[in-house]
Amino acid sequence: MTANAKALDQWIRGRFIDLNTALEDIYWCQEDRANTEGVGDDLKQMLLTEGNELITALLAEGNTDEGFEAGFDLLGNVGFFMAACRRHELTEPTRETHSPLREASALALQVGASVGMIPRFSTAHLTTHNCAHGGVAKSFTHGEDEAVFNEFNTRAILAYQRASEALLRVSRLGMTSPVAIDLLRNAKDALDDVYASNEQLNARLNVDRFFYSVRPYYKTYRVGHQSYRGANAGDFAGINVIDLLLGLCRGDDAYYSQLLVDKMLYMMPDDQALLRDVLRRRSLLSELKEELSQSNQWPHQAQTIRSLLDVVDAHGRAAQQHHDLLVDKFITKPSKAMEERHHGTLTASGPPLPVLLAALEKLRDLRCARQRSDVKTAYEDVELLRGRI
Ligand code: HEM
Repeated sequence: MTANAKALDQWIRGRFIDLNTALEDIYWCQEDRANTEGVGDDLKQMLLTEGNELITALLAEGNTDEGFEAGFDLLGNVGFFMAACRRHELTEPTRETHSPLREASALALQVGASVGMIPRFSTAHLTTHNCAHGGVAKSFTHGEDEAVFNEFNTRAILAYQRASEALLRVSRLGMTSPVAIDLLRNAKDALDDVYASNEQLNARLNVDRFFYSVRPYYKTYRVGHQSYRGANAGDFAGINVIDLLLGLCRGDDAYYSQLLVDKMLYMMPDDQALLRDVLRRRSLLSELKEELSQSNQWPHQAQTIRSLLDVVDAHGRAAQQHHDLLVDKFITKPSKAMEERHHGTLTASGPPLPVLLAALEKLRDLRCARQRSDVKTAYEDVELLRGRI
């Protein structure tokens, strides 16, 4: 890390967090907790001036090419600064046509293009690639709820990744291999871990603290002239690898593949490559259906079918929990209590909440293989399998 990059990193891990925390304390004590206008202006100016100074020095340094890790880390630090400016409404994408953070935008665009990701901070910066020092990972504030949110997002992402790796191995071995049953059990166990981790998140996260003091850092912001949607815990390939390999979602479904295209550059480059590879593979569901239709028999056939269905059910259960519990309790319900004038900036991706909720509901139903008259789900195929055991 160059001296300038190190100086920014130290600032982000120290003073930056202190300033954001002080601002959060002010917002929290207001009657309208979502208001950021006309309060804490001195603190906001310090954040802006100090961050800009460090970034201007880095921009002047030019491309020092210290490798992918260093570039990725720097992108995260510049992104944290830009996201905090957005949170405190020092920038506001609907108010501007260009980000007023000119130096930060230039640096983020240069580094983003060079590492192969969007020029903003992404979920990996806060979760799977957030390197802790002395037991403390990077964050926006000292708030306990932010730490809990990131810790349990990381656990759930890693568990999804474990499940996706096991399914990928099945895809190489073939569904009728006796070893596939072991791997399908691994995948189911990992998805049960997602569920258990989300239950803990649900128990430990304070609704209002999350809604008013954590979530606002994940909003859309501009880099240069373009707006980039906020980060969400779903910006990794594993969950889509599971959707596709289980045959619950299909790459030839424009709704679903549009979602993949949109999230591609929000993921780490190796996740991007993984997702592309899986889009070229056949699903385990379709492989199993074909084996059964050829009236092939294999000794452990019922066990193979049961094991695949166990994974499908575990995936559906976690998807239902995400939507019916987490989204409902931590977004939908508190948004009803929030003043109407703030509703425009409610979601990370930008669409109005009812539109976003309908899209998330559709994903939940695809993952649960639910019967729907308006969406083609894997309901019939899954029921066919259930009938074979
Ligand atoms: C308090 C906890 C959580 C809340 C309130 C929440 C809420 C949301 C919301 C509102 C979205 C849509 C984002 C947008 O476009 O604006 C979303 C997306 C997503 N979240 Fe969460 N989330 C939570 C935790 C998690 C966890 C722990 C995971 C597991 C890795 C997760 C996985 C996903 C995925 C994969 C997506 C993308 C859409 C999809 O493929 O389903 N979320 N979440």
